[in-house]
Amino acid sequence: MSGIRALHLKLQYSGTETPAVNISDLTVEPGEFMAIMGESGSGKTSLLRLIAGLENPDEGDIYIGGEWMNNTPVGRRPVQMIFQSLALWPHLKVMDERGYSNLSFPLKVRRWTQAQIVDRVRGVSNRVGLKEELYSRRPNELSGGERQRVALARAMVTESKMFLMDEPLSSLDPISRPKMRTEIRRLHDELGATTVYVTHNGVDARDMADRIAVMQNGRIIRVGTYADLTSATADPYVRLLLSSF
Ligand SMILES: Nc1ncnc2c1ncn2[C@@H]1O[C@H](COP(=O)(O)OP(=O)(O)OP(=O)(O)O)[C@@H](O)[C@H]1O
Ligand SMILES: [Mg+2]
Repeated sequence: MSGIRALHLKLQYSGTETPAVNISDLTVEPGEFMAIMGESGSGKTSLLRLIAGLENPDEGDIYIGGEWMNNTPVGRRPVQMIFQSLALWPHLKVMDERGYSNLSFPLKVRRWTQAQIVDRVRGVSNRVGLKEELYSRRPNELSGGERQRVALARAMVTESKMFLMDEPLSSLDPISRPKMRTEIRRLHDELGATTVYVTHNGVDARDMADRIAVMQNGRIIRVGTYADLTSATADPYVRLLLSSF
């Protein structure tokens, strides 16, 4: 199992006055499920993009599994990102056994056989509650919640052990959401994965995460368990943030 470390990490987009990310030291332990919470614009997505290699830091270092990653391009980093925008391939069906599709693509490029692909995609679809009758649709023919399930399934079919998830449950109804929380956490545990999970939902953080990192203006202002961060003596700003759902 491998963890993630960000050290003296700074990212400032051009034309902006303050850094979007400015972190002195953040460690996600191997096997840990860490939630990231913070107001809109606090730098959560930017942090995930830095870890994934979609942005280059102006300063600082990123380590994954103990290896320095700054010079490793996106495709070579051992992480799967689930984007806030989902980033499904619009022209591909959800699943096609024979050809390229949203769910088979990551496995086809890894040269899995058709039987292996079908088996794995069915298993993961089941876990995330994605009905097989949706396989023949394209993303614009799905509801927002269905699209989120496809994005989750696509990240999880590869048996990757490191996930960066950007609000993956935001479009789900209150019946599906608790089920998905349980399934994501269970998959994380079964795979022995390390997960960084951005959410605005305090219940996600409480029920899924080992620890929560709170961001404000690009900085990590607190890291701790839900109990620590919501105790009577905790910072009222942090308590308020964690009470949102
Ligand atoms: N490509 C960009 N160019 C310039 N500024 C950007 C860019 N992307 C993000 N920003 C700015 O960087 C800051 C952090 O943005 P980021 O998307 O990381 O926030 P966030 O915490 O994910 O917010 P949200 O909860 O709304 O998704 C914001 O002030 C945003 O306006
Ligand atoms: Mg964001």
